[in-house]
This record gives sequence, C-alpha cells and structure tokens, in this order.
Amino acid sequence: MKTLWQHCHVATMAQGVYSIIEDAAIVTSGSLIEWIGPRHALPSGDYPAVNDLNGAWVTPGLIDCHTHTVFGGNRSGEFEQRLQGVSYAEIAAAGGGIASTVRATRAASEDELFASAAKRLHSLLRDGVTTVEMKSGYGLDLANERKILRVIRRLGEAFPVSVRATCLAAHALPPEYADRPDAYIDLICNEMLPALAAEGLVDAVDAFCEYLAFSPQQVERVFIAAQKLGLPVKLHAEQLSSLHGSSLAARYQALSADHLEFMTEDDAIAMAESGTVAVLLPGAFYCLRETQLPPMEALRKHGVKIAIASDLNPGTSPALSVRLMLNMACTCFRLTPEEALAGATIHAAKALGMEHTHGSLEVGKVADFVAWQIDRPADLAYWLGGELDKRVVRHGVDVE
Ligand code: NIG
Ligand code: FE
Repeated sequence: MKTLWQHCHVATMAQGVYSIIEDAAIVTSGSLIEWIGPRHALPSGDYPAVNDLNGAWVTPGLIDCHTHTVFGGNRSGEFEQRLQGVSYAEIAAAGGGIASTVRATRAASEDELFASAAKRLHSLLRDGVTTVEMKSGYGLDLANERKILRVIRRLGEAFPVSVRATCLAAHALPPEYADRPDAYIDLICNEMLPALAAEGLVDAVDAFCEYLAFSPQQVERVFIAAQKLGLPVKLHAEQLSSLHGSSLAARYQALSADHLEFMTEDDAIAMAESGTVAVLLPGAFYCLRETQLPPMEALRKHGVKIAIASDLNPGTSPALSVRLMLNMACTCFRLTPEEALAGATIHAAKALGMEHTHGSLEVGKVADFVAWQIDRPADLAYWLGGELDKRVVRHGVDVE
C-alpha cells in the first residue's frame, strides 16, 4: 500500500552527510521508499494513507553494527574490580573476563538466553534501532555457538528489527583447548564454521586479533575458511595493542575492522583501499578507561568510512543505547554530530554489507526511519541517553 508521510524535515544521510530536505514528504510503497523530496515537489496522486509527522526530524532507523547481545550472567563484579585498579587483561589472566561469560552462557538454556537478550534488545529498539548485528563468541564449541546463533535468529523473528548474525567462535580460547590454540582454530575452520554456515545461522565471520586472544596468523586461517564458505569477514583489531589486524582484515576485503585505538596510518590506508569500515566503540573505550584514541585524523585523511556501535557486551561495554554512543563518540573521539549519525546509519549499514538497501533515506531503499521530535539533527548526539519522543517506522509500518 502507498503511504504519504509529511510535515517533517529529513536528514537522508545519503553519502554520509545530513543531506537535509526541509518541509519534506516521503512516499512509501509496501516496505520501500518510492519517493522522497520537498513537499512542494510531491507528485500529485492518490495516497490512501497520509501520516502527519508534526514537524519531526526524520532520520534513517539507527543501525547498531557491533553487539554481543546474547550472553549468560553479567560481570558487574568485574566492573567493581576494575574500579579498584585491576586491569581487563589481569582479570582475563585470572580466569575471569570472557571466560566467565563463557561458563555462564554454556550453563544457560536457549530459552534463558533468549529471555535475557530480549530485554537488552528491547532497550536498543526503544532508542530507535531498526537493524542490529549480534555476535556469538561466548559458546566456543559447536553446540554452544549454535545455541547462541539460534537465539540470534529467533530474536530477529520475534522483534520488529533486522538482525544480522556474526559467528565469533574465534573470540577466546575455550578451557578444553588451553595451550592448544591452533587445534581450536582447526576445529573452527574444519567443523564449526562449515556446520553453522550449512544450518543458515551465519551472515559473517569475526575474530578477536589480540595478544590475549588470537594471532594474525590464526585469524588469517579463520578468514580463509570463511571465504571458502562464501561468508564475509570482520575483525576485532587493535583494541589493546597494535598487531596490524586491521591491515590483515583489509587484505581479506573485510566488511569492517572494529575498536582500532592502536591502529597506524598504514592500517588506515589499507582499510581505505579495501573499503573496510572502521567501527569505533566508545563504550569499550570509556569502560576500560582507555587513553589511546583511535587515529581520527588518519581515518579522515584517507577517507575511511567510520561507524559507531554499542559493542553491547557484559565485560567492556554494557551499553543499552546507541544514541548515548553518538554522544560519547563526539565527546571522546571528537566526531561531529553529523559524523556520529552517519556512523550509526549509512556507514553502519556498510559495515554489515547492507548499504545498498539500508542506512539512508533514498528511493528504492527500505523504509526504515525514525521521526524524532527534536529541534535539530545534532540533538540526537547531544542528549545523554534517556528516551526521546519519536515514531519508529520499519518496512513502511509503525513499530509499537
Ligand atoms: O568487543 N574485544 C573483545 N570482545 C568484546 C569484549 C568481550 C568481553 O569482555 O566479554 C569487545 O570489547
Ligand atoms: Fe566486540
């Protein structure tokens, strides 16, 4: 059905800038945008449904392109330890960190994981998110990674949101493979990825390239296995040290390299050439009280597209609001509000390989948008979280 949406201003985010249309109108046909432009240029015709947006600012629906939404337990005890000066690496070395969430996740049933993740997803949706990526990575064996990925698929069916599932089996070494990292990489490449991909549970493959996780050589083996299965890759890289994982990711045409505080200018050049998106995660930067900033100047100079995401996870970023991340990206990383919004719309779509259908408001794209009762688009990055008055439309239909 054809629907007209009017009495609004639009920040289309086409090409990564606001591209503002004042006093705009949008025509949706089914789930797609059929026409968008200034209201005075609206083609005359019969619009069976007309919606008045009361002067709202319309933006694309927010896209959270990096989350670990599905996990068991929580780690607020480690938060307290870190406040007393114990580092993330020290906690991990003592058997806490990712390993403690792996124990809790393995112990939880699929339904328990679904119920706890649904609450977190609900918070993201209330903030205007219409697309979200979720990673596995707290199972670390075939049965438990499958359990998480199945929950991710179920969340996408149960909620009005497009969900992308990323297999992060190479997140940490499971206890049963202690001191045998290469054998665990064999398991991932030869058994886990082929089985999970065959079950239709995987849209992309990720790994954690870090001295306390996997080496670039081990990550490369995972990338080769993923590409054999026709799956795009992504990488947690340069979060705590510089191993040039982001350059490795670029060599494999990764959709994105994420975190990146310790990346070099050469890494930025490699990412620009391959079109790999830099996903910055201010929540993890903030929670770890990191002081090394991602190299914004090099990223901008070489034209690397920058996305912003919540990294929602129990250890380093228990973040339930993408808009809060926009604020933190501006305050901590010195992004402009316009860059931050592009980072949670069109560039986030590219980080998921969805930029041709999502992330900006253009003819032929999916009609996922939010009509915000705000004065200016910069207000989205200005308020520190909270709930803004808004109307969320997904696939051309109001989301309750
Ligand atoms: O993106 N860097 C690795 N993975 C997560 C942290 C996971 C955890 O501590 O549970 C991240 O920050
Ligand atoms: Fe992460």
